[in-house]
Amino acid sequence: MPNRIDYLRISLIDRCNFRCQYCMPEGEDLAYVRQQDWLTLDELLTLLKAVFIPLGFTRFRLTGGEPLLRPDVVEIVRAIAALPETADLAMTTNAFLLADKAAALYQAGLRRINISLDSLDPTIFQQIVGGRGRSRWYEVWQGIQTAHRVGFAPLKLNVVVIPGVNDHEVMELAALTLEREWHVRFIEFMPIGNGALFGEKGWIDSEAIRQQIRDRWGLVDAAVRGNGPADVFQIPGAKGTVGFISQMSECFCDRCNRMRLSADGWLRPCLLNEIGQVNLRSLLRTGTPMTEIRDRVAHLVDIKPEINYKQRESGTLGTYSRTMSQIGG
Ligand code: GTP
Ligand code: 5AD
Ligand code: SF4
Repeated sequence: MPNRIDYLRISLIDRCNFRCQYCMPEGEDLAYVRQQDWLTLDELLTLLKAVFIPLGFTRFRLTGGEPLLRPDVVEIVRAIAALPETADLAMTTNAFLLADKAAALYQAGLRRINISLDSLDPTIFQQIVGGRGRSRWYEVWQGIQTAHRVGFAPLKLNVVVIPGVNDHEVMELAALTLEREWHVRFIEFMPIGNGALFGEKGWIDSEAIRQQIRDRWGLVDAAVRGNGPADVFQIPGAKGTVGFISQMSECFCDRCNRMRLSADGWLRPCLLNEIGQVNLRSLLRTGTPMTEIRDRVAHLVDIKPEINYKQRESGTLGTYSRTMSQIGG
């Protein structure tokens, strides 16, 4: 039985206020999408109402780049949350601007938020995300605390594990779940974005991390699975969970339920290849009838299982020319 494709990840902007070493390292020039080429809120709503919702999409995630850099992010949240068909609306952010925006986002109807937090050490954090002066870690931590206070739940923290950089912090990060209802997910580093860093550092198998945690505290299967590719466990008695996103050691393409829409309107069926992608903004702006746009997207949904990376028989290994910030997380 093929998976139901009902989850759309919507990138609001390809720019970012961080320069994560694995994504868009400092000194590397990326060509950004021009603001006039962003899908506007109206265009986005038109596509959701006339194309995606009629095709059965009910779950949406706002990503970037850094979605909080989009000036109308709160209006976008409010509009999508207000659609009666929206069953789930979430955001993935680096949280640098979250302390300021958390309350407004919550009031606008956002409930679920995933935050990248690769280190608990402000110095290491700064090395990973770039920037000068006082470490950005303090703002991010403030953002996480504010999101928690405002009521965001579940609150998920994403850790990309990079050998020799932050892998020694795994236990400390997992320990965050003992007393807090937070969900810490360890992500295997993928060769997407900074191929040179990947070549130098490689990646760590989730199973090795799972074993470390199991040896120290024990681990049981968590009752809930979540929407995505994470395998979720719990330290016995802990309030939160630990998850593992293992796209390098274990291909989860056959249970993939998502499509991605970039800030400038490219709809792509798979994170790891560009087969079949179509620019919905161009179709909209050249006056293509909505029925035709819907048929094109319906066709992509139909053929997605053939496009998924697994079918290409090369595993997840390989190097990719675009960064997560350009594709949209
Ligand atoms: P929920 O479970 O709905 O909270 O979302 P999620 O885990 O899918 O969202 P998030 O944006 O936090 O994604 C976390 C990480 O999972 C991403 O950074 C990727 O590393 C990985 N990931 C998400 N979707 C895919 C996918 O389609 N393919 C692959 N290979 N990796 C993915
Ligand atoms: N490998 C794994 N995860 C990555 N992310 C960005 N680039 C990579 C990569 N090369 C993650 C970020 C964030 C999410 C949107 O994507 O950590 O949690
Ligand atoms: Fe920005 Fe996210 Fe890329 Fe880091 S991973 S540079 S926070 S888009």
